[in-house]
Amino acid sequence: MEAQKREIKRKLRQLQSLPTLPPVVSRLTKLIGDENTTALQIAEVIEKDQVLTSKVLKMVNSAFYGFPKRISTVSSAIVLLGFNVIRTLVLTASIFEMMQSEDLGLWEHSLGVAAASGILAQHLELKNQEEVATAGLLHDLGKVVIRAEFPHFYKQILRLVEQEKLSFLEAEKQILGMYHGEIGEFLVRRWNLPERLVEPIAFHHEVEKARKYKKETAIIHLADIIIRALGYGNGGDPWVPGLQDKAWRWLGLDRKDLEELLPLLDERLLELRFFTLEIQGLGFA
Ligand SMILES: [Fe+2]
Ligand SMILES: [Fe+2]
Repeated sequence: MEAQKREIKRKLRQLQSLPTLPPVVSRLTKLIGDENTTALQIAEVIEKDQVLTSKVLKMVNSAFYGFPKRISTVSSAIVLLGFNVIRTLVLTASIFEMMQSEDLGLWEHSLGVAAASGILAQHLELKNQEEVATAGLLHDLGKVVIRAEFPHFYKQILRLVEQEKLSFLEAEKQILGMYHGEIGEFLVRRWNLPERLVEPIAFHHEVEKARKYKKETAIIHLADIIIRALGYGNGGDPWVPGLQDKAWRWLGLDRKDLEELLPLLDERLLELRFFTLEIQGLGFA
């Protein structure tokens, strides 16, 4: 199995078609890290890329963000949303492209987890709530990579899920000797994304491994369970994983919190159904 794992990592490293982050995202990440950067400078970087500009504007004006007023320039989007949100938005626009239209089930699952994560982060008054939602959106990125780059293994995994009634995760471990958390981690580290995004993506199925971003990781773990329990989208198998004690303890939530949050989530998921229909017209899927 170790040999298999090494082989997959080697292949991952060599793949030419492995999704790379557009250079503009790296440039934005650098700019955002510099405290002297102005909204105008960031707008200039985005506006140089016409396709990206139109994607950003379509995203900002879509049901995903749900602003009442139409936003027509990148700089006003930045003023309204802030630097970090813009970076997430550019990132999201890039991820949209990687997820193919056949992945609609996984796409809906990811959007659902993003919505649930955002609502939980807000309830817990976490900083960088948008980024927690982005971690939710990207949490199963590893599955996208397996499907796109190792279609043969992907089919074997699905077969095990169906025939042996295994979870996607157990099947991945059997076939690949590793699972989508590790593959996602490999990729987002290569993209130099902030650790705040890396830990939840890497450890949402083994929260005890989180070091710095325990709450964020626990949120994605719980959001994944809630969205599966609601039957929203398709995370690769029909099972609902168990809630890890540690995650629940780190969040310090009780039943009442959940009862309060579920109606909010329901409403958001309904909006997202429309969004899923909308993106087909955005040229992303
Ligand atoms: Fe997952
Ligand atoms: Fe998931």
